[in-house]
Amino acid sequence: MATKSRKYRALSELLPFQSSSDRKGCFALPRSSATTHRSRCGEEKCLLLQYRNKVQESVFRAEVKKTEGEKLCFFAFLRKPNMASSMRSLISNHSRYVESFRLFLENSTEHECMLEFIEKKLPDIISSIGNGKSAINILSVGGGAGEIDLQILSKLQARYPGVAINHEVIEPSDEQICHYKDRVAKTSNLENVKFTWHKETSHEYERRMNAKQEFKKWDFVHMIQMLYYVQDIAATIRYFHSLLDAKAKLLIIIVSGSSGWDTLWKKYGSLLPLNAPSCYVSSADIKKVLDTEGLKYQLFELPSSMDITNCFIEGNKDGELLLDFLTETYEFSKTAPLHLKNAIMEDLKKPECSGERDGKVFFNNNLSAIVIEP
Ligand SMILES: C[S@@+](CC[C@H](N)C(=O)[O-])C[C@H]1O[C@@H](n2cnc3c(N)ncnc32)[C@H](O)[C@@H]1O
Repeated sequence: MATKSRKYRALSELLPFQSSSDRKGCFALPRSSATTHRSRCGEEKCLLLQYRNKVQESVFRAEVKKTEGEKLCFFAFLRKPNMASSMRSLISNHSRYVESFRLFLENSTEHECMLEFIEKKLPDIISSIGNGKSAINILSVGGGAGEIDLQILSKLQARYPGVAINHEVIEPSDEQICHYKDRVAKTSNLENVKFTWHKETSHEYERRMNAKQEFKKWDFVHMIQMLYYVQDIAATIRYFHSLLDAKAKLLIIIVSGSSGWDTLWKKYGSLLPLNAPSCYVSSADIKKVLDTEGLKYQLFELPSSMDITNCFIEGNKDGELLLDFLTETYEFSKTAPLHLKNAIMEDLKKPECSGERDGKVFFNNNLSAIVIEP
């Protein structure tokens, strides 16, 4: 395996990466690495090519044309990514998705780190959003089942006791809205909160409001772990930012640009089945959007980890489910091409993705909370 990695790295320095079409070109390979490829001349081989830190699975065909001193000249044909047709998005199997998501929450500190942020940082952030108001307007975009929303609400109630709160939720999933309503019904102290659910996507909401010429202002808008699902991130941020009142804030929580997710997606995103339009987006991408838009913001890093030790135990059911979640692929262990699986398993252990503690492997699940000014 070590020899193979060296071989691919040598290729990476020499092969221009083309994903859109077959390419023909002449590339000089140092004799040392060329020798290892001579047996492949004229053959088609499936290789993992690493170029500019991206891994591309391609069919590589090379023919030795001539030797020039210490170098050999090759004609190489790079084909489009050859994604194994059996790989499917995890979201295509809802029950497996729910099961792997449950395991992700059980094995990670995802919610704990958000709750810590809400406990320690949020009170300051919302300290003046309702000043002088008889009612506070909150908009939750992709509110899910409301677990985090209700925690946020409790902080607002603590800051503005007794003040009426108008809380609206944009959520396209019927099932999530049902869970949300159940949760509200079981929670006490919500007498001063009026809930409204809009069963639609953020884009549908925007279109509906524009059609009605309704430009209601909000005191707090939040988008927690939802921007992966929108078509146009910049336009979505621009629209919801335009709805902020003078002292309002827009909160985005998303995986951090320093997380193992970002490393994994940047490297393997093109080889994994996409389940959403923007799927592989992190706070690094959001920062670029905000800088381009010239928006003022503050960024908080929320350290979080996920115990992925079981992923390295062959045949371990929980490990397989977590691997599905990590790669967003249904039954990744069974359906991924062996070389892709091996490469991902190897990278998952590296410091760019994970750390080791007490014999366990912890994946870097850091999140970022970005607070945007009006
Ligand atoms: C990962 S969940 C996060 C839920 C909640 N914010 C939380 O942190 O607990 C993402 C939610 O976004 C919703 N969603 C998906 N696409 C959306 C869209 N285009 N607009 C608004 N919400 C969307 C999903 O139905 C899901 O409930």
